Amino acid sequence: MSALLPTYQRHDIELVEGTGSFVTDAQGKTYLDFMMGIAVCNTGHRHPEVEKRLHAQLGQLWHTSNLFESSKQERVATLLTTNSHLSHVFFCNSGTEANEGAFKLIRKWTQKTEILSFSQSFHGRTFAMMGATGQDKVKEGFGEMVSDFKHLTFNDFESLDAITEDTGAVWLEVIQGEGGIILAENEWLEALMERTQAYGVKIVIDEVQTGIGRTGSRFAFEQTPLKPDIITVAKGLGSGFPVGAIITTPEAATIFTPGTHGSTFGGNPLAMTAAEATLELILTEQTLRSVQEKGEYLMKQLNVFLPENQIRTIRGRGLMIGIEFKQPVASIVLSLQQAGMLVVSAGPTVIRLLPSLFVTEYELDLAVEKIKQVCQQEVIA
Ligand SMILES: Cc1ncc(COP(=O)(O)O)c(C=O)c1O
Repeated sequence: MSALLPTYQRHDIELVEGTGSFVTDAQGKTYLDFMMGIAVCNTGHRHPEVEKRLHAQLGQLWHTSNLFESSKQERVATLLTTNSHLSHVFFCNSGTEANEGAFKLIRKWTQKTEILSFSQSFHGRTFAMMGATGQDKVKEGFGEMVSDFKHLTFNDFESLDAITEDTGAVWLEVIQGEGGIILAENEWLEALMERTQAYGVKIVIDEVQTGIGRTGSRFAFEQTPLKPDIITVAKGLGSGFPVGAIITTPEAATIFTPGTHGSTFGGNPLAMTAAEATLELILTEQTLRSVQEKGEYLMKQLNVFLPENQIRTIRGRGLMIGIEFKQPVASIVLSLQQAGMLVVSAGPTVIRLLPSLFVTEYELDLAVEKIKQVCQQEVIA
């Protein structure tokens, strides 16, 4: 019997080693990893540069406290702010924590309780973030939500009428990840931007899944008309080392003053080492361009080789791609595992492809080949 609380429906596979785009299980079977810990290992498994720097840091210092200066935190914060229009950063340990901190910031900043988020969104599992999340399954059995989030219909122009002077913030993912790789349409975002500006409403963009190069730009919002007041990041920031961040404007520095927010582990030297190496690898023109090119190539190959009769749509940006099937995908995920490839679903009918941003063309072709094979088997079955 397991001593773990059964909060996860786990696959019967234990992964014990990983290099680049491949992982190996305890039985010695190798898999092409197009899941990357759900958009976490954006530099692939054990990128040599990240590994080298973490090794060096392990021999130096593991943890101090946020009561001391940290030039490492300053450097990572500078990397995040010089790569956006924002100026100030708070470090934490996960996406939910980054969102929870942003929620506190918005409450204190705006002194308003009404925050608008969207259907099918996912923002985490603390009480406030369950409230923010637009999916009932996350909230079932937990009673009244404590936060005052109202959920609007994603990509729906009329729903934007709900933005008024009573609204503190609009909170959204510009590509909904857990919701099924649903892209916000730029025309709708333009209307959203106009309406928030008209009423002085803040915009919080949850870039936990889309950020750090995943969509072919530093942050996904850069490919939209939005200019957020806060962005939250986590997943891809540490190449697998737990780290999250709130990135915001100078005004927020007058709200989050000493004693208002904190974290024992947030910005820990090991996390900052992983984040600094990760950002230096990813936030280059060359890497970001290659993510766009590989994304376009993958999308094209999928469109050419996957059978039309099984696929509803293929959508995404950069290397965040969703294949929506006409049938439930649970069996396809398992068949792909048998064929030596890892993917994760998003909802009942969508498979997400989230490879390393340094994936090779050979690995992209291999992925398409395996998905094609599994589609053929599914038809026969
Ligand atoms: C958009 C988004 N926000 C927040 C979270 C929660 O992040 P974490 O699991 O690191 O707390 C996730 C996780 O999937 C996410 O995709």
